[in-house]
Amino acid sequence: MASIKIPKSWQISEQEVTPEDIYLRRREFLGTSLKLGSATMAAIYGFSPFTNGWSAEPEQFSPSTITPEIIASRFNNFYEFGVEKQEIWKSSRKLQTEGWRIEVGGLVKNPQTLEFETLKFPEEERIYRLRCVEAWSVVIPWIGFPLRLLIDKLEPLASARYIKFTTFLDPIIAPGQKKRFWEPWPYTEGLRLDEARHDLTFMATGIYGHPLPNQHGAPLRLVIPWKYGFKSIKSIARIEFTREEPETFYTSLSPLVYDFDANVHPDIPYARWHQAFERIPGQEETVKTLPYNGYANQVAGLYL
Ligand code: MTE
Repeated sequence: MASIKIPKSWQISEQEVTPEDIYLRRREFLGTSLKLGSATMAAIYGFSPFTNGWSAEPEQFSPSTITPEIIASRFNNFYEFGVEKQEIWKSSRKLQTEGWRIEVGGLVKNPQTLEFETLKFPEEERIYRLRCVEAWSVVIPWIGFPLRLLIDKLEPLASARYIKFTTFLDPIIAPGQKKRFWEPWPYTEGLRLDEARHDLTFMATGIYGHPLPNQHGAPLRLVIPWKYGFKSIKSIARIEFTREEPETFYTSLSPLVYDFDANVHPDIPYARWHQAFERIPGQEETVKTLPYNGYANQVAGLYL
């Protein structure tokens, strides 16, 4: 039965279905499309190169902006495995994700240990911008489910106001946890519960149409597109509900430099960087950073 897909306001575009080779040859298609017309192009390729689905400030972006997987998967932050972005895809191979478990505790009806394999939610694909505090950004097609669905299943108590996430701790396989021993490992992050329940807040289990590889935070990571990338914690091993704002890796490391919110804002220098512009790996030019990373229409209301 045919179903009509109603795009959500944050949706980037029909390029969700764009295979990477078509993405990479987009200039060729753009040339052809001038002759064929966008409707014909849409019929042939499943998308129209004239469609610009960016939800905010579309003029900032060209239509095909998904970062090629070869770039996104070779340029990562995962400090457990070192500080060399180009090496993480290799050094993170040691992480063993089979039989992965997630402990659930704190202010929740039923503290328990979840088997990752038994988590079953309807899968969605979401194309989101990811803006790192180091002033670079990528556009990534994630697969997963809204965090809200998991929260509802876990049933936090009425007294819970925050959710805290913790990554694995294993200095034997994660050299960063051993070498940088003064840092507050394991990596932790947190959100207010209303942020965590927002429709944009996503639990990713896949990327570019396949399960998450280790460098992107296998088997389960958070993606919060309007906050700096460090909030999007990888390889989640514990979830806890709390009454008070939880300390996180960065707020405990440098409380004066990092705040809990970490919402993308071009006018406010954050951490060690000016935040007005961002660099796209593999490209020369920089682009302007947008308030809430371009998702202001969807999330600004959370902060009134
Ligand atoms: N999660 C853990 N556990 N450890 C990390 O060092 N780095 C964060 C975030 N999640 C990090 C993490 C930062 S700074 C960024 S920008 C993103 O992951 C990068 O995600 P990507 O490598 O999948 O693009």
